[in-house]
Amino acid sequence: MLDVAVITATSPEGRSGANVARWFLGQAERRDDLRLDVIDLNRVPLPPLHPRSSDAVADEATRSLAARIGAADGFVVITPEYNHAYPAALKLAIDAVRREWAAKPAGFVSYGGQSGGLRAVEQLRLVFAELHVVTLRDTVSFHRVETRFDERGEPLDSAGVNGAAKVLLDQLIWWGTALREARAARPYTI
Ligand SMILES: Cc1cc2nc3c(=O)[nH]c(=O)nc-3n(C[C@H](O)[C@H](O)[C@H](O)COP(=O)(O)O)c2cc1C
Repeated sequence: MLDVAVITATSPEGRSGANVARWFLGQAERRDDLRLDVIDLNRVPLPPLHPRSSDAVADEATRSLAARIGAADGFVVITPEYNHAYPAALKLAIDAVRREWAAKPAGFVSYGGQSGGLRAVEQLRLVFAELHVVTLRDTVSFHRVETRFDERGEPLDSAGVNGAAKVLLDQLIWWGTALREARAARPYTI
């Protein structure tokens, strides 16, 4: 069993993002090798301009987020792309937490217009490297996301995207298990 935090940065009004998140969580929930904690950034009221400098000064929302990130052995980030980047709320959450990210893997599920969120994901790789997070090569991405789900919110190419989600989660479990064992054997220092 691997503890995985799924961090969703979808707009509260956006139907596309809700479809992507619902679909992916459905795929993850049916596995018996994962325990999920869904962190919906719409429900995490972080202060806008005060990244955590120490536990002593952190507010309750920041402490709670740090505890949830710390309890996870791996992460999946679900993100749209806005102006060639990922949403500001996601950067705020990333910056609010420090050592709790370290020596753990992260995978990405992205969506957007023509680029399918791939530019947002490439930027996230740079940021997560600074936090000692190992990012998975394979991603799931939805180009022109508004055309990729039917009226019931089911993906049109379910075989293709379900297969991509399986690859992503298999790789996350490989890295997450390996790094959990490594952290237990020898503390990771940053
Ligand atoms: C302000 C804004 C900027 C956007 N910029 C991009 C972009 O740079 N690349 C892209 O592929 N899609 C872009 N899109 C399309 C969104 O990624 C797409 O509409 C997505 O569904 C929005 O996610 P949401 O449903 O969670 O709001 C943009 C949309 C908005 C509203």
